[in-house]
Amino acid sequence: MSEQQHDSTPVLQANGLVKAFGRVVGLDGCDLELYPGEVLAVIGDNGAGKSTLIKCLTGAEIPDAGRLQVHGKEVRFTSPQSARDVGIETVYQTLAVAPSLDIAANLFLGREERRAGPLGSVLRMMDRAGMRDKARRELTALGISTLQDVTVPVENLSGGQRQAVAVARAAAFGSKVVILDEPTAALGVRESKQVLGLIDTLRSRGIPVILISHNMPQVFEIADRIHVQRLGRRAAVITPQSHSMTDAVAIMTGASAGDKAA
Ligand SMILES: Nc1ncnc2c1ncn2[C@@H]1O[C@H](COP(=O)(O)OP(=O)(O)O)[C@@H](O)[C@H]1O
Ligand SMILES: [Mg+2]
Repeated sequence: MSEQQHDSTPVLQANGLVKAFGRVVGLDGCDLELYPGEVLAVIGDNGAGKSTLIKCLTGAEIPDAGRLQVHGKEVRFTSPQSARDVGIETVYQTLAVAPSLDIAANLFLGREERRAGPLGSVLRMMDRAGMRDKARRELTALGISTLQDVTVPVENLSGGQRQAVAVARAAAFGSKVVILDEPTAALGVRESKQVLGLIDTLRSRGIPVILISHNMPQVFEIADRIHVQRLGRRAAVITPQSHSMTDAVAIMTGASAGDKAA
């Protein structure tokens, strides 16, 4: 699969990203490519620059230097909204759901739909029925069967279900890339499996995914390719076929140089 991927234009490409926080180097000339239809895992020790990399890809941080391209076209993001505008959706480590709102309202948070005609344009009335309808269809399309009733407030859901809502929101509305920063860190085994299932569904719908994770078995189970981040740079790109988990840890810690060509 990777040979074919390398022939196509990356959906998202970063070259030479630099980001310093005072004297602390977050990114030190970091590259990344995400190809169509793949799950790219990003692994690395604490402080390796994974979150900073993701923030630069999603407009949450502005890099000091380097280039970003979406489908081969140079972009400069100045805010998370500017990345969302081109279809890059992110689920952050700290879950951004609104607990008191129901599932449907969470899916449409920040892009609520108004009712047709003057009720919407003048009175600003929301199209709740329409949004609930679309929310139901979206959840069904993603194979999320545990969220049948979209009128349930998110605070009544389990951690895994909340994560599913956050992922569904990222995946809905024609997004081109979904980025997940440690989506299963706070979840149990069964709930983690559900989130992995969702990632698989996104891939089968043709939406490429970047998955930041510490969980090596999960990474090796789901990733097509694995970007190993170390000291603010990409130390290697490996695959579950080319390398073992032990190899991956060795590259993460600098015990082995890895193989950039994978
Ligand atoms: N807002 C910030 N201010 C100062 N230093 C930061 C900030 N964000 C990240 N860093 C530093 O940048 C480095 C990379 O951090 P981070 O991207 O969070 O790594 P990771 O997600 O791989 O654990 C660390 O040394 C971290 O302390
Ligand atoms: Mg992090």
